[in-house]
Amino acid sequence: MKKILSINKKIESFNKSIDVQGDKSLSIRWVLISSLSKKKSIAYNLLKSEDVLSALECIKVLGSKVKLSKDKCEIIGVGLNPKIKNKTTFNAGNSGTLGRLILGLLVNSKSKIKLIGDKSLSQRDFSRVVQPLEKFGAKFNSKKTLPLEMKGLDKPKAINYLEKKGSAQCKTTVMFAALKSKGETIIKAKKSRDHTELIFKYLKLPIKIKKKENYDIIKIKEVKKVNSLNYKIPGDISSCAFFIVLTVLSKKSELLIRNININPSRIGIITILKKMGASIHFKNQKIYKGEQIADIFVKSSKKLKSINCPIKYNSSAIDEFLIIFLVAAKAKGTSKFKNLSELNQKESPRLVWASKILKLMGIKNITTKDSIKIYGNPQKVVDKKIIIKNFFKDHRVFMMSVIAALTFGGKWKIYDTDSIKTSFPKFLEILRKI
Ligand code: S3P
Repeated sequence: MKKILSINKKIESFNKSIDVQGDKSLSIRWVLISSLSKKKSIAYNLLKSEDVLSALECIKVLGSKVKLSKDKCEIIGVGLNPKIKNKTTFNAGNSGTLGRLILGLLVNSKSKIKLIGDKSLSQRDFSRVVQPLEKFGAKFNSKKTLPLEMKGLDKPKAINYLEKKGSAQCKTTVMFAALKSKGETIIKAKKSRDHTELIFKYLKLPIKIKKKENYDIIKIKEVKKVNSLNYKIPGDISSCAFFIVLTVLSKKSELLIRNININPSRIGIITILKKMGASIHFKNQKIYKGEQIADIFVKSSKKLKSINCPIKYNSSAIDEFLIIFLVAAKAKGTSKFKNLSELNQKESPRLVWASKILKLMGIKNITTKDSIKIYGNPQKVVDKKIIIKNFFKDHRVFMMSVIAALTFGGKWKIYDTDSIKTSFPKFLEILRKI
């Protein structure tokens, strides 16, 4: 793969249908949950990206057997009490989801384990999961960042936990630890993606959920065994998002994206873009193992208007804001997005990067630690040279830049093409078909 991508021309109008790759959150969860069963689990359309491959490597280190072929993946797991040697190292690569979730699974490891990751992951905050895991009884060497060492305990004790950030990673880490802990863990969690809850329910694990307006109360008891989980992973809305915006911002274009997970906790982008005037519809809706799936039909939009984005959409659009900001840049009026400090906790400080890229494009924005105000201009055309590099190989910064180049114009050089391997290796291949 060439390291630098050059784009010198806007995309022509198109009328196509595409598939995107499997959902990353579901793929990582399927891998980790399958490792808890001693029976064979099979997944189709598992996302074969570096983050998911790192998850497969981690469960192999635990002793699981993995068979990965072109169209399916089989896992025979190790159950709830794997034998782990002292100082076993788990490498989460670039993945915050894997790094955090695996610590929950390892809470009952009496042997010391070491968790490492790449440069970007080693700068991210782990105190958010260290704190609840310490309540379960685990001991850590470092409180905040990787590399870290954890020593769990034979019989962790259930905890009460308040999750205030709306982080599905923190919630799921605690949910995994709860399966291995004596008693009933009670989580009061600000709303966030609920894939783990849906899988636990499907597997008939002892989970009870009470949904309140902003919070869910989740109760989980210890289990003695976990059944195998066969799964057809639907397409990832977070990958789909780049193509949705490409279509919205292109002239006279239409796109059908098939078989996408439209779990309500993930489709903030659809709600936000529709409020801004985009034409997006779901077709062939169905339910699969608790998840909602649909084809997404999107058309280019001539009249886009600004938004004062309600913070209640933040969690369900958390991975899509970079690309939403491009729509704000083409919309009439000033758009405001608030309470987004979490965006600077991702693979790169994304609010900082969004602001930088928009400024390079000549789009006025005022950005603070947790907010951005974008002065949109429907007539905006970029006609200068733009170089994007040193962005911690953040896959979503790369893909945002590509879509900006194709829809606003200009002469772009975007470094680190291989950054897409973490979440969406086929991004450029699919784009070329359009
Ligand atoms: C994820 C949760 C989100 C999201 C990440 C995937 C998950 O992170 O940004 O890409 O699969 O649980 P937070 O839970 O930290 O918001």
